[in-house]
Amino acid sequence: MAARLDGKVALITGGASGIGRGCALRFAEEGATIMVADLNGERAEKVVAELIAMGAKADSVQVDTASEESCEAMAAAAVAAFGRIDTCVAAAGISHAGYVSREIDEQRGRDRMDRTDMLLLDKSLDSWHKLIDVNLTGVMLTNRAVARRMAAAGSGGTIVNIASVAAVTALMGSADYCVSKAGVWMLTKCFALELARHKIRVNAVGPGYIRTPMSGAAITHQPWVDSQIRHTPLRRLGEAVDIANACLYLACEESSFVTGEIIFPDGGYGAAVRS
Ligand SMILES: NC(=O)c1ccc[n+]([C@@H]2O[C@H](COP(=O)([O-])OP(=O)(O)OC[C@H]3O[C@@H](n4cnc5c(N)ncnc54)[C@H](O)[C@@H]3O)[C@@H](O)[C@H]2O)c1
Repeated sequence: MAARLDGKVALITGGASGIGRGCALRFAEEGATIMVADLNGERAEKVVAELIAMGAKADSVQVDTASEESCEAMAAAAVAAFGRIDTCVAAAGISHAGYVSREIDEQRGRDRMDRTDMLLLDKSLDSWHKLIDVNLTGVMLTNRAVARRMAAAGSGGTIVNIASVAAVTALMGSADYCVSKAGVWMLTKCFALELARHKIRVNAVGPGYIRTPMSGAAITHQPWVDSQIRHTPLRRLGEAVDIANACLYLACEESSFVTGEIIFPDGGYGAAVRS
């Protein structure tokens, strides 16, 4: 059987770590050439080295997805390196655990709800803007920079945006994150409508709790892990490859009649908490 992304060029934001890196490795196994795009250029180069060691073609570009100029330069770099972009995974993102991780690390074990600065009544506007800029505006800027190249090339394409179960489940102390991910889900549907005429399909994946560096301190705090597992019918946390496999389906021809949709690889978490 032919590899599912044979001859395709994939641009993956957030490709230096966690879910983005998982997609880069999985897509390369299926024959794709990979452009790893990340704020952390050094870690992106390490992923490129892993991909080349697997026998894949790959390169990296440093990007700040919150910047329009940077996203346009990223898409232009992918086209310059590999001639076109066939598929994109927008996985770059931050969370409280990412950008205030030191504080959280220092108070491991302490309930997040003790931190009133994470609740809406006291959350700083700066931290709100920072998260929305990367997680929502960054996905919009990534999608359109990529879609502009795909539309100009005229051969269609696929885009997969990484949302979260938080797109449809409110989490105390994470309002900015939840709102950003609900926005990504709606943005995905809007792009799907507008880009269908260019044969560009746009879908989203909403992971449950996944073992990645973003999960940071929480993942090493056993009571937190136990509680997540208790709420997950399949009784485990997810791994990056669980998300990469869902992205792969949406990126390749097997999903050719699917656009404007979201898949939640969450071990049944959503079915349990929302039913
Ligand atoms: N880990 C989880 O449990 C989980 C659950 C649901 C959704 N998600 C989402 O999955 C995506 C990937 O998360 P992860 O768990 O792999 O996290 P991660 O921290 O391991 O990886 C995120 C990557 O994004 C990059 N990044 C951050 N800001 C950026 C910017 N402005 N421009 C370019 N790159 C930037 C980081 O450098 C990092 O390499 C995120 O959108 C996250 O919200 C994660």
